[in-house]
Parts: sequence; structure tokens; C-alpha cells
Amino acid sequence: MTAGAALSISNLTVKFGGLTALDDVFIDIAPNTIVGLIGPNGAGKTTVFNAISGLVSPASGKISIHGSEMKWPASHELAELGISRTLQGVGLFSGLKVIENVMMGADQSSGSNFFKDLIGASGRAEAKLRQRATDALAWAGALHLAEKMPGELTYPESKRVSIARSLVSYPQLLLLDEPAAGLGQDDIDKFAALLKQLKERCAIIIVEHHVDFIGAISDQVYVLNFGKVISSGTFDTVKRDPAVLAAYLGTSNQTGSEKLGGQNA
Ligand SMILES: Nc1ncnc2c1ncn2[C@@H]1O[C@H](COP(=O)(O)OP(=O)(O)O)[C@@H](O)[C@H]1O
Ligand SMILES: [Mg+2]
Repeated sequence: MTAGAALSISNLTVKFGGLTALDDVFIDIAPNTIVGLIGPNGAGKTTVFNAISGLVSPASGKISIHGSEMKWPASHELAELGISRTLQGVGLFSGLKVIENVMMGADQSSGSNFFKDLIGASGRAEAKLRQRATDALAWAGALHLAEKMPGELTYPESKRVSIARSLVSYPQLLLLDEPAAGLGQDDIDKFAALLKQLKERCAIIIVEHHVDFIGAISDQVYVLNFGKVISSGTFDTVKRDPAVLAAYLGTSNQTGSEKLGGQNA
């Protein structure tokens, strides 16, 4: 494990009945960096997020946050631990303004008492939460959308709002599961720029099928296949790794290098 890493996981094994979904997985994320997690469908990427966020119980494994080893978090502990995760898809409440949706994120993303604690009965607490939501919208480049209703947003705008919602607890670690899904190339480029700004505030671990996008934003990349880390390092290193090319070859008619962003390895 790396001392002082925003997050360090080692020997993580997760089983679903007879299936070993994760086998001795390790991941280190330094503060203010982006880690990309890639691998074929079913490799175990989402299960890594589920283990970090208390949705599955590991059979074994260690987790440290900022150098302190702790027990695997329960989902209601995430906000306190500074961990936030975007929900699948966009999932905004259509009857609430954008700013209110972002305020709701304090509760929804973590299942914690954070929202209730902040709101309580006092108007002062609500003002504090509104300020956090305003900050989060600004960080996500979506402050101008604060007073809109979700139905008025374009799809890329709603993605920004969902990122803002995950930032309302001021996380130190942000987990993003396929945030670029459904975006066109133009918006993917803007999104990459946004994430590079966001890593000044928090470490980010991102699962994404757009391998070019992962290559453009990630400081480190981990490649999972059948529940194991088969390669890790910079994108330039892993994309040339024969084990990675073989894993991608096994799932596609394309060559592994085409799937890994059209580069000649
Ligand atoms: N809750 C679950 N119950 C049983 N099997 C699961 C569950 N979640 C994931 N799996 C299985 O674990 C493996 C890894 O899944 P997942 O982490 O979703 O992969 P990825 O996100 O890389 O596509 C797959 O074989 C999947 O079917
Ligand atoms: Mg997945």
C-alpha cells in the first residue's frame, strides 16, 4: 500500500456464490490524480465500486483512506469518509429545480444523515447546503443551470448536473461509473477538460468504455479481466501490454490495439 494515497485497496476478493468476481485486486489512487479502470464487460469494474461504496461485502481485502487502514465502508458512511459516487445514468428529479436536485445529492448519493443533519429544522443549515450546491454546480461548470428544471436541460448539461450532485458533499474521492456514456465526441472532450479541473479538488476513479477518453485523462490505468488486475501503469504502458491486447482481442473482432484507441502498439 502507498502511504498517504487517497485510496488504497489490496487483496480485494469478492465472491457471488460460486463466482469469483474479484480476485486479489489492488488499486492505489494518489491525491489529485485520476485513475482509469478499464476491462471487458463482466471484468469486475462495477464490483470494485460496489465494494468501495458498501454495496457488496468483500470475502477479503484491505482498504486504506489517506494512509489509514479501516474496515470496508458501509454505504451510509461514505459522505463522512469523503467518498462520493455518481448514480447510474442521470436520475434527476423532474419536479425539482437543478439547484434543489444538487442539494438532494447530499442525501441520495450516500444514504447518510448528511442531508438531514445539514437541513435539520434550521434555515441556516439550508442556506449552508444551498451554498454547497452552488459551489458544486460551479465546479461542474453548471452554475448557469441552477434555476432550470431538469426537463429543460440537454443531455450533456444533465450529466454535468449529476456530477455536481456528487460533489455537494465536497468529496475527496469521486467514483464515476461510465460518465461519458451517451455523449458525442465534442462533449466527451469538454468532459475530459472538466475532470482535469476537478482533480485539483479530489482524486477520481473512473470506469469508462471510451478508451481514448481514459487515455486522455488518466494518470494511472488499471486493467481488469475476469476479476484480476492484468496490467497497471500509465495508459501508454498498459496499451502496449500483451496481456491487455490479448484480453481485448478475446472479446472483439477488432484487434486489441484498435479497441485500445486505434494506436499501433
Ligand atoms: N450482485 C451480483 N450478483 C451476482 N453476480 C454479480 C453481481 N454483480 C456482478 N456480478 C457478476 O460479477 C462479474 C463482474 O461484474 P461487474 O463488476 O458488473 O463487471 P463490469 O462492471 O466490469 O462489466 C460478472 O460476472 C457479473 O455477472
Ligand atoms: Mg460495469
